[in-house]
Amino acid sequence: MTRLTILEYPDPRLRTWAVPVGSVDAALRELIDDMLETMYAANGIGLAATQVDVHQRLLVADVSEGRNDPRVFINPEILGKDGTTTSQEGCLSVPGYYDEVERALSVRLRAIGRNGKPFEVELDGLLAICVQHEIDHLDGKLFVDYLSEMKRQRVRRKLEKDRRLRAEGGTPAPARAPAI
Ligand code: NI
Repeated sequence: MTRLTILEYPDPRLRTWAVPVGSVDAALRELIDDMLETMYAANGIGLAATQVDVHQRLLVADVSEGRNDPRVFINPEILGKDGTTTSQEGCLSVPGYYDEVERALSVRLRAIGRNGKPFEVELDGLLAICVQHEIDHLDGKLFVDYLSEMKRQRVRRKLEKDRRLRAEGGTPAPARAPAI
């Protein structure tokens, strides 16, 4: 398995609209395994293919405490949404920044699994938030798009400062919550 490089905001490749996956073959399953390894290594709870510069509609997630419940959603489609909830979100492509975002409380989803079989599922809680965040990635959208331009400027400055610090051999402040 290979650890992939995660694109960081404001990389324009994060704005790509991902195309549907054609077939669930060995190459795709290898990509899924690489994405899971990348997500776990980065201490993330979700990762969209867009974030590793693969522009296909695929996302992985694991919101379990034990980090032992990997979920795979290929060509995910939201069939319905219910309620609203606001929570602090972070993103592996916006490292070290968290802010409140409003999402649907529960979503009904259709997708294809790692085994190539289609399924439908009702999600709520953290996994529902995570999947909405990741589907946004597949549509070229980031959680900072929901914030004010002033906040986005602050985020860009912070990330630039962190990148400079890393280039100089320093370590930016560690993440205080899991990112998706
Ligand atoms: Ni994200």
